[in-house]
Amino acid sequence: MLDQLEQIKREALSSLEAVQDDEALAQWKVAHLGRSSPLMATFDDLRDVPKEERPAIGRGANQVKQALEASYEAKSDALRAAAVLQSLEKEHLDVTLPGRPVLRGRLHPTTQTMRRIYGVFAEMGFQIYLSREVETDEYNFQLLNFPPHHPAREMQDTLFVDSGTERGDNPILLRTHTSPGQIHAMREFSAANPDDPPPVRIILPGMCYRYEQVTTRHEMQFNQIEGLAVGEHITFGDLKGTLSDFARRMFGQQVRYRFRASHFPFTEPSAEMDIECFVCGGEGCSVCKRTGWLEILGCGMVHPIVLQNGGYDPDRYTGFAFGMGPERITMLLYRIEDIRNYWANDFRFLEQF
Ligand code: DAH
Repeated sequence: MLDQLEQIKREALSSLEAVQDDEALAQWKVAHLGRSSPLMATFDDLRDVPKEERPAIGRGANQVKQALEASYEAKSDALRAAAVLQSLEKEHLDVTLPGRPVLRGRLHPTTQTMRRIYGVFAEMGFQIYLSREVETDEYNFQLLNFPPHHPAREMQDTLFVDSGTERGDNPILLRTHTSPGQIHAMREFSAANPDDPPPVRIILPGMCYRYEQVTTRHEMQFNQIEGLAVGEHITFGDLKGTLSDFARRMFGQQVRYRFRASHFPFTEPSAEMDIECFVCGGEGCSVCKRTGWLEILGCGMVHPIVLQNGGYDPDRYTGFAFGMGPERITMLLYRIEDIRNYWANDFRFLEQF
């Protein structure tokens, strides 16, 4: 009977060699390991074997069964591997080809600069105040102490939405700067408590519009970030301290800066802030127009008339304000030479940031 088992095993393994696909393999399993296979029949026949021989034959039959099962598994694995290879050949998949790049979205360089500026002022306790882009002549100019014939109020400089003559009322225009937000903010805060208005410490970012000839340095549409601090005992020293700290956090601890006297209708005294040209280190180059300095913002102590217009008593309160152009600061930071790049939507430009 052991010889018979040996014979069963030989035949099963040789017929397994001929198996080429899953279907034939399933048939082979039924024929050689199934209920009515010769191997299973020998287990049934064990009953008739003399008792002394039974263990040896039983062990032999089990060994054959394990051998056939192992061969079945190996064959099954081999068939699966062959199928994968075959399908790869059919699809001509070249796994050595480089992958297709995934396009990654990114923030506009001006947005990145604005967020950095927000971060610097947030650390100093300033909150963001958003104000409207469509304004009246009153808010954009009059309440900010612009005299009636100031050149900025001319048609050549401002985009008017409605002249106001038909209504006999204020012209409506696109704000030419973020400064009118100062009045909106002060009026909102002081209206809540007119006898004792709360201190103000805000930045006002947003889009501004001017009727300009577009050039490498001028756009009709640009952002500004305005700043306003109002309270009791605020001095010019606070203005200088705040803006000096801003310059160091924005451009590096080593940055050199200076304040120059200037003029704005809504501040008195007024100044402009320059930082040392970081292209030439102050020697003088084309970026700084040979001066060694780069202008980054306008600022000053809030004019008493403006405080008054905002509902803050100028005998009790003082304040400082400033305004900067994030597009211009971004141009300085990255040495961008043409402001028109910002709106051209050219990936070759935008992908660099
Ligand atoms: N509004 C000014 C402009 O558009 C910028 C500015 C200057 C804002 C001085 C201020 C300031 O708040 O104090 O040119």
